[in-house]
Amino acid sequence: MTQTTEFQPPGPVGSGTMTLAWCERMRRTAPVIKDPATGAVHVFRYADAMSILSDPATFSSDFASLAPPGDPDVPSFTEAALTMLDPPRHRQLRGLVSGAFTPRMTAALEPRIEAVTESLLDAVAGREEIDLVAELTYPLPVIVIAELLGIPGDDRAMFRGWAESLLSDSRDAAVGTMGDGTVPEETGRHLREMNAYLLDSIAQRRTRPTGDLVGKLVESEVDGQRLTDAEIVSFVAFLLLAGHLTTTLLLGNTMLCLDEHPEAMAAVRADHGRIPALVEEVLRYRPPVVFLYRLTKAPVTLGGVEVPAGTIVVPWVISANRDEDRFAGAGRFDIDRPANAHLTFSHGPHFCIGAPLARMEARIVLTALLRRYRDIRLADGAAPTYHQSPDIFGVKRLPVTVRPA
Ligand code: HEM
Repeated sequence: MTQTTEFQPPGPVGSGTMTLAWCERMRRTAPVIKDPATGAVHVFRYADAMSILSDPATFSSDFASLAPPGDPDVPSFTEAALTMLDPPRHRQLRGLVSGAFTPRMTAALEPRIEAVTESLLDAVAGREEIDLVAELTYPLPVIVIAELLGIPGDDRAMFRGWAESLLSDSRDAAVGTMGDGTVPEETGRHLREMNAYLLDSIAQRRTRPTGDLVGKLVESEVDGQRLTDAEIVSFVAFLLLAGHLTTTLLLGNTMLCLDEHPEAMAAVRADHGRIPALVEEVLRYRPPVVFLYRLTKAPVTLGGVEVPAGTIVVPWVISANRDEDRFAGAGRFDIDRPANAHLTFSHGPHFCIGAPLARMEARIVLTALLRRYRDIRLADGAAPTYHQSPDIFGVKRLPVTVRPA
């Protein structure tokens, strides 16, 4: 592979400005490029990203061969990390869990999500300045996942603590491990507690069936095969990882987009029916997950570049979503955009199973905020704090000023 452009990403995504400008340049000048430091091949155009995500036979999700060994005393929770499995095991396991993750179950959560949203907002009623992340968008998704799983109300605080432990250190490698496979002591204790708690809930549901997700997972069966206890625990931990921070980021990104685009705010205020289209455009414009990973199982040509087997390939979602060849006026935030086929929830067999839930949470939260407040804007003098990570796009603090309706 010969290349003239150097691979020099601008570092943490932060507010996105530098990363987006760099991606635009890469789409034009080096749409498929090898990072000489790691050997990984980075891909920036929509069509190439789609061809990778649509072809699991060539572009594998199984990174087990590259993972660090892990700590034998701490549950690794990786048996049922769906995103790291290939067909046929992936199809089997996804079949089992999607049977328990139906649109009906998602829709059934709507009134509870509304109630939780209202109670989180009640807790800050009367205040003119709120950090939307701390008060609303961070706690809500974990409560929703606990709700989905059927974790009783009294155990929620404990569950939230475990969720934080899982998230705090999951950026690097396997769940809950550091890059070298070791786990900090407190995280290890939390993960062991969570493991024991979930095993106990599973045992209870094996004797007394329940309609919640853990109950459904216990009962699910495909071709006469059931999930083991370890697989159920692992799937629950994986749900927390896959569905918590991502949703927090989507909710924050929605408020950022509305603040930047007052005409979109006016449009959804006038007609709440336009909220789903707005959320879709936020997903395209500010995707929480910046890029995905695959591993080539055979030599392949990508955008004219030959890529050997065993290469890590990195499709940049944030770039594909801004590709002019796929989205006319890609740099414009447009809630009336037709056929908004962004890649934020991936594509192909790994397409996000929680997408309907995340979309519903965003709709509920925005509807509640618009009803409650006649004015919401970023607080003067208190800028949002962005995550400083290469693969996360969104805020960890979002101070807003509100005026009640
Ligand atoms: C805005 C919020 C979310 C975003 C941006 C997001 C993004 C993604 C992406 C990109 C993938 C595929 C990764 C790949 O192809 O390698 C994925 C898979 C998955 N997501 Fe989400 N997700 C979100 C919310 C959720 C929620 C709320 C849940 C559940 C509570 C969830 C559960 C899952 C699961 C189980 C998978 C694995 C699917 C598979 O590999 O077959 N996600 N998500």
